[in-house]
Amino acid sequence: MNNEDKHWKKDFPINRSEANQVSRRDFAKLLRVISGGMVLGNGIIASKAFLSKEQTVFEKQKICNKKDIPVGGTKSFVLANEEVPYILIHTEEGQFYAYEQKCTHLSCAVYYKPGTMKIECPCHNGYFDVKTGHVLQGPPPRPLKKLEVIIEAEAIFVVHPKSTTI
Ligand code: FES
Repeated sequence: MNNEDKHWKKDFPINRSEANQVSRRDFAKLLRVISGGMVLGNGIIASKAFLSKEQTVFEKQKICNKKDIPVGGTKSFVLANEEVPYILIHTEEGQFYAYEQKCTHLSCAVYYKPGTMKIECPCHNGYFDVKTGHVLQGPPPRPLKKLEVIIEAEAIFVVHPKSTTI
């Protein structure tokens, strides 16, 4: 070691082990800042969720007129702003029922089997009760999603729930 090196070390003494501790300390500080930010972010999200209220409103949508569906016939439709297909059924008993047209097993399209009061899924021989949507036979695990049907004079409406945030 020459004289120049000694002079430099004397002016700027650095203890190697202390230098490592400072680095760990900085890292711990960084972790504290990051976790503090995460706690703050979660707090903001939680308070937003607490303050905003979700409300379910019911919308009524006209599908068609009674004369548009013969006895034993059906009409497919979609709800406003949705793409899921639904089916409106006019049974031999003169009643109207509306269901989501997707089987609850593997989402095949279901259809009404005229004269049987049953909705059939041809994929795996699943059957549903046309009055309730409950499973009568086959692998479907749940009933079909049912919509309320309202008749006003000659017009047929369905009522469906819609969630909105206020
Ligand atoms: S998809 Fe309907 S019974 Fe399997």
